[in-house]
Amino acid sequence: MGNSLVARKILITGAAGEIGSVLRKGFAGRFDLLRLTDIKPMGGARPGEEVCEANILDQGAMITVMKDIDCVVHLAGIPRENSWEQILPMNVIGCTNVFEAARAAGVKRVVFASSNHAIGFYHRDEPIDTNVMVRPDCRYGVSKAYGEAIGRLYADKHGLSVSCLRIGSFRLKPEDERQLMTWISHQDTVHLFERCIVYPDYHFVIVYGVSNNDQNLWSNSKVNWLGYRPKDNAEDYVAEIIEKGEAEDPVAKAFHGGSFCSAEFDGDLERIE
Ligand SMILES: NC(=O)c1ccc[n+]([C@@H]2O[C@H](COP(=O)([O-])OP(=O)(O)OC[C@H]3O[C@@H](n4cnc5c(N)ncnc54)[C@H](O)[C@@H]3O)[C@@H](O)[C@H]2O)c1
Repeated sequence: MGNSLVARKILITGAAGEIGSVLRKGFAGRFDLLRLTDIKPMGGARPGEEVCEANILDQGAMITVMKDIDCVVHLAGIPRENSWEQILPMNVIGCTNVFEAARAAGVKRVVFASSNHAIGFYHRDEPIDTNVMVRPDCRYGVSKAYGEAIGRLYADKHGLSVSCLRIGSFRLKPEDERQLMTWISHQDTVHLFERCIVYPDYHFVIVYGVSNNDQNLWSNSKVNWLGYRPKDNAEDYVAEIIEKGEAEDPVAKAFHGGSFCSAEFDGDLERIE
């Protein structure tokens, strides 16, 4: 374990957001330092925290806030489908700034919030694992595939330890039929990020952010060593979802990415192998 890491000082980008707020609460008292950054207000610092407004579009600011940090958790950006005008600066340039700042500041590890939409165009009759090629289902998904690629580059070329979390549907509880497959609960999310932060030594890893759902289609068997053992199961909410009775359209129903695949779809369903 030549590059063994003891992660004590953690920085979160996008800390004011939905996942960031849950991590903040879940990580309270867990690390020597939690440095929280966002462009939105985050409230006052609690014990063990530092709060700094910082924009991921400003690489200088990113290098400054990463001083003395062991591990960056990169959440900031556009969290769903949007125009190229929005996606490119935030999720491509901003993401590049974060990896480059981590390298420049001597950070050892980046935990990157990727998305299941990086692989959304796999057919649902095909369960997949962490070795599959990216297969994005929207512009947002392409930007996450980019984040995984730059993560791989910075691991191989610069020796950064990188994990990419292909997060499913982060919600309090599953809200529709598809989320019976893709849901990740709050407590499982905290546990997943924690494992990726504290695991002593890895070079580059992709892991699915999904709960222990009966209908899960994404296998983490190749990254079992990380110790991610999700507890919650979307099936506990199946009755509520059946009651809603919302059916997916044929394109959405065919693929892992659901409505992200059918939005703007003018392709040929028959030709998608
Ligand atoms: N929520 C999900 O189900 C889900 C699923 C897959 C992936 N993800 C990914 O996880 C990450 C967090 O998602 P979320 O649901 O918490 O999103 P969110 O929108 O609630 O949080 C994102 C945060 O990033 C901040 N931000 C935006 N632009 C910024 C900038 N230029 N500089 C600094 N901060 C900026 C926002 O102010 C916001 O607080 C995103 O990268 C998203 O793509 C989320």
